[in-house]
Amino acid sequence: MKAIVAVDLDWGIGYKGNLLQRIPADMKYFREKTIGKVVIMGRETFESLPRKEPLKDRINIVLSRDEQFKNEKIIICRSLEELFLKLEKYDSEDLFVIGGESVYIQLLPYCTVVYVTKIENIYPADKFFINLDQHESWKLSELSDAQSYDAISYRFLKYLNQG
Ligand SMILES: NC(=O)c1ccc[n+]([C@@H]2O[C@H](COP(=O)([O-])OP(=O)(O)OC[C@H]3O[C@@H](n4cnc5c(N)ncnc54)[C@H](OP(=O)(O)O)[C@@H]3O)[C@@H](O)[C@H]2O)c1
Repeated sequence: MKAIVAVDLDWGIGYKGNLLQRIPADMKYFREKTIGKVVIMGRETFESLPRKEPLKDRINIVLSRDEQFKNEKIIICRSLEELFLKLEKYDSEDLFVIGGESVYIQLLPYCTVVYVTKIENIYPADKFFINLDQHESWKLSELSDAQSYDAISYRFLKYLNQG
């Protein structure tokens, strides 16, 4: 299982239900990494997707305890136990945790790799990712050159779980 996330310099990931920043090249990177794979997300993140539609060409698994929440286009799991049962039939290399905060926190211990897009800015944020630089299990293994978009600098990082 892997995670993919875009963070700011404080490891902020969201504010008032939205992303902190949308960078087209990062959206493309996210699509390239997850296309054809299984994406796992919380109900809040699912509802923040454009038109509340599942991500195309991916198997969408959404965690929700709300029995009223139903959607035939996605797989809904009511607990981590149910999620892990559902995941048994997939190759663990194909599983991508895509947020938000609560789901990253619960599933990070099961991840072997985290792809981090580090946006070199600080935004108002109310949701955060775990700071992997302060986490002894996680080691930075790759760091791209700085890229820029609209005067925003960002890099693609890869962290490995040394667990
Ligand atoms: N920067 C990034 O890369 C990135 C990526 C994704 C999301 N985000 C941001 O993160 C924020 C959303 O994060 P969030 O923590 O508020 O919400 P979230 O993790 O997307 O969803 C939380 C919901 O997931 C369900 N859930 C979580 N754990 C569960 C479990 N063990 N069993 C069953 N259901 C479970 C619950 O749904 P019910 O309430 O229906 O029970 C819970 O309310 C937004 O601002 C979004 O834009 C950022």
